[in-house]
Amino acid sequence: MDFTLTEEHKLIRDAARDFADSELLPGVIERDNKQQFPKELVKKMGDLGFLGIMVDPKYGGSGMDTISYILIMEELSKIDASASVIVSVNNSLVCYGLERFGNEEQKQKYLTKLATGEFLGAFCLSEPEAGSDATSQRTTAIKKGDHYILNGTKNWITSGGRADVYLVIAQTDKHKGSHGINAFIVEKGTPGFDIGPKEDKLGIRGSDTHTLQFNDVKVPKANRIGEDGAGFRFAMKTLSGGRIGIAAQALGIAAGAYELALKYSKERKAFGTEICNHQAIAFKLADMYVDIEAARHLVMKAAWDKDQGNNYDVSSAVAKLFASKVAMEHTVEAVQIHGGNGFVKEYHVERLMRDAKITQIYEGTSEIQKIVISRNLIKE
Ligand code: CAA
Repeated sequence: MDFTLTEEHKLIRDAARDFADSELLPGVIERDNKQQFPKELVKKMGDLGFLGIMVDPKYGGSGMDTISYILIMEELSKIDASASVIVSVNNSLVCYGLERFGNEEQKQKYLTKLATGEFLGAFCLSEPEAGSDATSQRTTAIKKGDHYILNGTKNWITSGGRADVYLVIAQTDKHKGSHGINAFIVEKGTPGFDIGPKEDKLGIRGSDTHTLQFNDVKVPKANRIGEDGAGFRFAMKTLSGGRIGIAAQALGIAAGAYELALKYSKERKAFGTEICNHQAIAFKLADMYVDIEAARHLVMKAAWDKDQGNNYDVSSAVAKLFASKVAMEHTVEAVQIHGGNGFVKEYHVERLMRDAKITQIYEGTSEIQKIVISRNLIKE
């Protein structure tokens, strides 16, 4: 067992850190206030290879491993979780989904553009009545000759108004339950495909979240991903990798808040000394450090499992469950350590606290992660 990062991993982590400090940090408060999508920054992240991190270079990707992906995610998330969720969805849900389950024609047509940042992708599974209960898809995809006709509504779609390519999960044969579900590639601008209003959110306010409507949307059969009925398995497998990305995002949010709290506690004085010298604060810092280290090891383990070709359904759920809990608890503590300043936007910790909450909800709530983990324990 070797806990040392390779020189290449350190270089990638440092490049992501430099980008986050120099490019994401300057406008992050304004983007949060105005709910402004970081369009130019997404382009720059594409140029750096951050949008197709794990994709094979033959499809325009960076050809890196999952460890590299989580190192990048952690560094971006310390500063701007709105930017990092765009990276996470494009990498681990859209690019990975297409690279693993798509055919060669689909990869040439879409993956090559998604991996370079020329296109942005969205993953459309959640519905008004099918959030956690993903099997209960109401969106239908009825086969008509060499096309499918899609009807239904998708909710809370990250990059919903900005994406060029949408991976849409829909029910083709409801009598077959999860085995009657398909996944499709739908291009923006397809007639009948409408983008609803943007959501006004608690956190990750710079990311672009929308409801999507499908009214008799004609999608060629060539755009179905995998065999007929393979859509639910596609969604579950893709989400297992997505959960590693969100776990790394949660880790970054927690670590970012901790770094700010540590720095602040060494500068701020009360009762004649820096507040880090008071045990009430010092013990909070110790608790934060321990939990963040533990979260980092779980996230690394899940990424390592994926890179080794091991099953990572459980390790990704464990990492996401724990890292998101740590992010929520310790961003609250970081605000507390900052006192009144913690409640003020310019100190950044209140934004990290608001951003932390979504990591316990999207790509499977904490309760869903417990279902995944416990079912596997009982099965063994
Ligand atoms: N890999 C392969 N197959 C899997 C699988 C996996 N990880 N998980 C389940 N399956 C298979 C099962 O083996 C089963 O197949 P058989 O019928 O052949 O046995 C089939 O799929 C159905 O599985 P379940 O019976 O376990 O299904 P369920 O209805 O009980 O639901 C669930 C399982 C884990 C709760 C699932 O519904 C789930 O993950 N829900 C959460 C959905 C979610 O994460 N949504 C996030 C939205 S995306 C998002 O947030 C993106 C964004 O923009 C940020």
